[in-house]
Amino acid sequence: MSLAYKIKEQVDTRWKRSRNGHMNALLTLDDFEAAARSVLPVPTFEHFRSGADEEKTLRANREAFNRFTLWPRMLVDVSKRDLSTTVLGERISLPVLVAPTSFHRLAHPEGELATAAGAADGGTIYTVSTLATTALEEIAKVSSAPKWFQLYIDKDRGITRTLVERVAVAGYRALVLTVDVPMLGRRLIDERNRFAPPPDISLPNAGDLDPNTPMTGSRVAAYALQHRDASLTWRDVEWVRSLSSLPLVIKGVLRADDAHRAVESGARAVIVSNHGGRQVDGCAAALDALPEAVEAVAGRAEVLMDGGVRWGTDVFKAIALGARAVLIGRPILWGLAAGGRSGVARVLSLLSDELSRTMALSGCANVSAIDATMVRRAP
Ligand SMILES: Cc1cc2nc3c(=O)[nH]c(=O)nc-3n(C[C@H](O)[C@H](O)[C@H](O)COP(=O)(O)O)c2cc1C
Repeated sequence: MSLAYKIKEQVDTRWKRSRNGHMNALLTLDDFEAAARSVLPVPTFEHFRSGADEEKTLRANREAFNRFTLWPRMLVDVSKRDLSTTVLGERISLPVLVAPTSFHRLAHPEGELATAAGAADGGTIYTVSTLATTALEEIAKVSSAPKWFQLYIDKDRGITRTLVERVAVAGYRALVLTVDVPMLGRRLIDERNRFAPPPDISLPNAGDLDPNTPMTGSRVAAYALQHRDASLTWRDVEWVRSLSSLPLVIKGVLRADDAHRAVESGARAVIVSNHGGRQVDGCAAALDALPEAVEAVAGRAEVLMDGGVRWGTDVFKAIALGARAVLIGRPILWGLAAGGRSGVARVLSLLSDELSRTMALSGCANVSAIDATMVRRAP
């Protein structure tokens, strides 16, 4: 072995050790947020962190979890716990999926490839965004773990049609149609920062961030103006269904009647979500919307939720209120920024450990034991 190689190996080992040490010091998802804040440029961190307008809904998503208390059951054998569940027939090792978020190469040079590997390490499904910065075929090849693809319907329906064909060929297991973006919510911080990804960051699945598009606020807002379609209705959902035999998931409903309509339109799952507080500010917290949606769906489809999940107890509460599983958005970006693939995997394993402990201390040996009696709205 050459001396140069030996030195490189030593440096790599030291780097790995220090990175691992650094990661082991991160004990909560909030620690990961602080770590991401320290490594990302301010406009990028703020793009990921922020919500729309005054960020009332962003805060409400978190506050909603605090309004529910746990009602633990004692003297149940919890010496062995099974956190696994299924979504659309796929077994996952914990009831937490990776939500679709954009621009992963702004968080880490390996971008979506690292996210896909980290999600597979964590034993769960990664929902790849239309606004991924890596070709969907490349992401699909990272692992054999099941992946879903999140779809935005483009103003140019030809772009959408081609995208849906590519998704099916690449082996994705479900199409997640996001319905809460007829136009982009107003992200004031991005406007103030004139947020614009660098020119080498592209959107290979979505038409591109044309650097010549006139831009008054952020580059993302300019892109949305070009590609999102405010005329979308349930008829377009039918159209997407006609394009593909993949199971359809509708993401971004809060109202019971919309959840019902989603099932009537053929959705196999509904994600109760307000886009992490990034669309209409002042709308209901996702957790508060969950019970009505569960009632409206009445077992005809699976109901998932996202928005503000940061602790194992949050996962537990959402399941007790009827969610099949939850998704996490920002915490995955924090994991990615702080440690690439292993950061993503560690975020998932922290949630898994927390959920496991919550289940043990609450007398639930498996996910199906987390029923409606386990939580109550605080007086
Ligand atoms: C930076 C960022 C980018 C997002 N991009 C998308 C997207 O491309 N498609 C989509 O359906 N949802 C997108 N979302 C919403 C997430 O899928 C998810 O609903 C939300 O992040 C959940 O809230 P949480 O971040 O509190 O976990 C994005 C959210 C964030 C924070």
